[in-house]
Amino acid sequence: MCGIGACISLLYENVAPKILRMLKNLEYRGYDSAGIAVVSANGRIDIRKDVGKIDELDEKLGFGEMQGALGIGHTRWATHGVVNKTNTHPHTDCTGKIIVVHNGIIENMKELKEFLTNRGHKIVSDTDTEIVPHLIEEFLKEGKGFMSAFEKALSKLKGAYALAIIFLEERDRIYFARFFSPLVIGIGEKEYYVASDVPAFLEWTRKAIVLQDGDYGFISRDGIVINNLFTGGKVDREILVIEWTKEMVEKGGFPHFMLKEIHEQPQSVKRTLIMAEKQIDGVISYLDQARDIYLVAAGTSYYAALHGQYAFAKYGLKARAVIASEFVEEVGSFIDEGDVIIGISQSGETADTLRAIRLAKRRKAEVLSITNVVGSSIYRESLKSIIMGAGPEIGVAATKTFTAQTAVLDYMVLKWAKEHGMDVEDLIKRLKKVPEDISVVIKENENKAKELSKILTKKANAYYLGRGIGLPIALEGALKMKEIAYLHAEGYPAGESKHGPIALVEEGFPIVTVVLRDETYDKMHIAIEEMKSRGGYIISVVEKNDSSTIRLSDYSFLVPVGYSNIIAPLLYVIPLQLLAYYTAVIRGYDPDKPRNLAKSVTVD
Ligand code: F6R
Repeated sequence: MCGIGACISLLYENVAPKILRMLKNLEYRGYDSAGIAVVSANGRIDIRKDVGKIDELDEKLGFGEMQGALGIGHTRWATHGVVNKTNTHPHTDCTGKIIVVHNGIIENMKELKEFLTNRGHKIVSDTDTEIVPHLIEEFLKEGKGFMSAFEKALSKLKGAYALAIIFLEERDRIYFARFFSPLVIGIGEKEYYVASDVPAFLEWTRKAIVLQDGDYGFISRDGIVINNLFTGGKVDREILVIEWTKEMVEKGGFPHFMLKEIHEQPQSVKRTLIMAEKQIDGVISYLDQARDIYLVAAGTSYYAALHGQYAFAKYGLKARAVIASEFVEEVGSFIDEGDVIIGISQSGETADTLRAIRLAKRRKAEVLSITNVVGSSIYRESLKSIIMGAGPEIGVAATKTFTAQTAVLDYMVLKWAKEHGMDVEDLIKRLKKVPEDISVVIKENENKAKELSKILTKKANAYYLGRGIGLPIALEGALKMKEIAYLHAEGYPAGESKHGPIALVEEGFPIVTVVLRDETYDKMHIAIEEMKSRGGYIISVVEKNDSSTIRLSDYSFLVPVGYSNIIAPLLYVIPLQLLAYYTAVIRGYDPDKPRNLAKSVTVD
């Protein structure tokens, strides 16, 4: 949701190529438009910006050739104001001396704009961001220096912000501030960086400081100064050494990150399980003592949460999955001391999920989380966070983090069941073996997905049906297809499909079914027969030796036998990820950058 990439060279080298690279590394956060501002040695500011993707803009505007040893850049996912050049960051004040990039939403923009225009400021864009340089400009008139004007401006802002700012009269500093929207500082040998996310600078340094709410300050060649608005005065923040590697944020020979990440799932699930084993201590006792358990998440992570609800229920552990943005209205009034909330979030920064866990904390509930990013907001605000070992996920559509999340939830409930005397040893063993079988599923289904995508590309709609443990898989499969291939795909509980959705089914209508050989099997067959008798084109994901479902289907993806249980998502979702990927590619879309989406949704 907008990416900030800023850099100061300690050796006075040109930073534009690095800022350009940072923006490319952050493009998954937004790609409506982009801009860079660089200060040259003689103190002149060069600002280049326009609508388009980073590579196109670099060719058009020559980002990489900009001269100067300090600069800030931004890739935008529009919130306030249409996608055009004027609304593209960086934004400046009336004097052109204060240059700002921003991620977040300033909620009291209207009243601040009125305050500023009444004082003669000329605001040229429709963005909330442009308020910031003008506010600082206004408070500079008080004559107490930039830092004081900056602090005062921050104290007036309501909403969420991550900011990087250049003030031309102090051109050896990059000012920054963070409230609610993520911002990290990278500490390199030859540069300091300020960025929305660690992958921005991972190719140069793994040392990072994760800024916290209320932090503001500056980086300069003399070091890093961090203050906090709420505690007052300077603060020390720990320097983390991030375990991700540079290779993890490269395509490694694959045409897209999404395909690379689908193929990485054997390793990512394996790593996740090893890490979960080390982190599970203490979690089980929270589950035991909980009054009620809520699994809270958004998008794909919500489908993982829903899987958790079904998986927990299989072993008699009651939990409720709640969509994070509905949390307040749906269950907010029930949350109380003794409840356990498990926030599930790849980024650890999703605003909806963060707000839900903050509400739970205010109600004195215990907050745990499953995240992929050490130091992220949700990680920090949880009593205990289980970090998945998925590694950075760059493709906007979540793939390897969905399987990692379901692996953690499965492991959690199996551990709980074991501690309660249930015989789950075989399933734990199978879970550990699953990475090998994921490789088999990819190998045996990739060409099939390619082939089937040629049929699906001609279709406008599809249903994805599942039941029980199969339902979240169907929902996730449909979301993948919808978001990257722009094919209207609806996930539905199979039994519910006859209560309305079936009205749309006619000759050749694609129905993707997730068929597990468990207690839902016969009912799934009934749903398939109902769809088939109305002309539905049946695509199934089934166990290899399930000849009866294979016979009923027009097309089948096959998975190894023995996973018709809570581990199912780890295998069954993979053909659906591949199908969405190849349908997007055949339709000519970039699966890594689906339109209107951003990887990390840090606004409401
Ligand atoms: C879909 C997708 C999104 C995210 C959602 C939550 O492919 O990636 O639906 O799952 O925005 O993001 P996190 O997991 O970062 O909280």
